[in-house]
Amino acid sequence: MNTDYPFAVEVEHLTISYHSKPALLDISVRIERDQLVGIIGPNGAGKSTFIKAVLGFIKPDLGSVKIDGKNVQLAKGRVAYVPQRGAVDWDFPVTVREVALMGRYQKIPWYSSPTREDYEAAEEALQMVRMQEFAGRQIGELSGGQQQRVFLARALAQGSDILLLDEPFAGVDAATERAILDVLERAKNAGKTLIVVHHDLSTAAEYFDKLILIKQRMYAYGIPEQVLNEELLSKIYEGRLRIFGNILQPRER
Ligand SMILES: Nc1ncnc2c1ncn2[C@@H]1O[C@H](COP(=O)(O)OP(=O)(O)OP(=O)(O)O)[C@@H](O)[C@H]1O
Ligand SMILES: [Mg+2]
Repeated sequence: MNTDYPFAVEVEHLTISYHSKPALLDISVRIERDQLVGIIGPNGAGKSTFIKAVLGFIKPDLGSVKIDGKNVQLAKGRVAYVPQRGAVDWDFPVTVREVALMGRYQKIPWYSSPTREDYEAAEEALQMVRMQEFAGRQIGELSGGQQQRVFLARALAQGSDILLLDEPFAGVDAATERAILDVLERAKNAGKTLIVVHHDLSTAAEYFDKLILIKQRMYAYGIPEQVLNEELLSKIYEGRLRIFGNILQPRER
């Protein structure tokens, strides 16, 4: 693994369309290692599309994505992913332990079963998100916040250096949000790079080292103080911002 390489993710001139309508246009950004990076932007801005492109799930019309300096297609499995909640079938009959173990599947050859090491990695990941006591439970029988933590455990069990999370705080209460943030910060301190789609501008500065502001194009990338510029945000969110003191908050969806 090329861990001395300074950039976890490099995106150059990324352009992606669905049915010839551009969702992302000419995005170029380099994300350094060991950081907690937030992606902000209104609904339909292309945030999930960006995450899927960095995972190599979507082929760009133009441009390229590199992971640790190598083409994303050669880095499959190097990046762990927590999907947006709506993208998961929660009725799928699988236990919490099995979901965490799925994070290991790329490491398990087709001819063998999970090893003790795989089970231990899954167990450790469940402990990190404090879901070990639910290990035998069906995922459909968990609350939204608990499900979100189990999917985070699956990504942690993978052991990747780069984690992409699509709105991990959506629909969770304040205590779960804190618990998830704590896991993300510990992962960062353990040398991981985390890229997180985030909806709440009022916590963005507190949670993230850097922010990426997207609405089809990339409007800003940098430390929160630079990106959370009132004039820029009211343009991007089309004036749909409430202002609490000096904290900006998009109006509800
Ligand atoms: N599979 C798809 N087929 C066609 N259009 C799509 C598809 N996925 C996304 N789009 C369109 O691409 C644009 C960007 O979608 P995307 O899901 O990336 O936005 P987002 O920023 O993640 O939004 P949200 O905040 O609602 O999750 C939207 O206009 C959306 O309708
Ligand atoms: Mg999305």
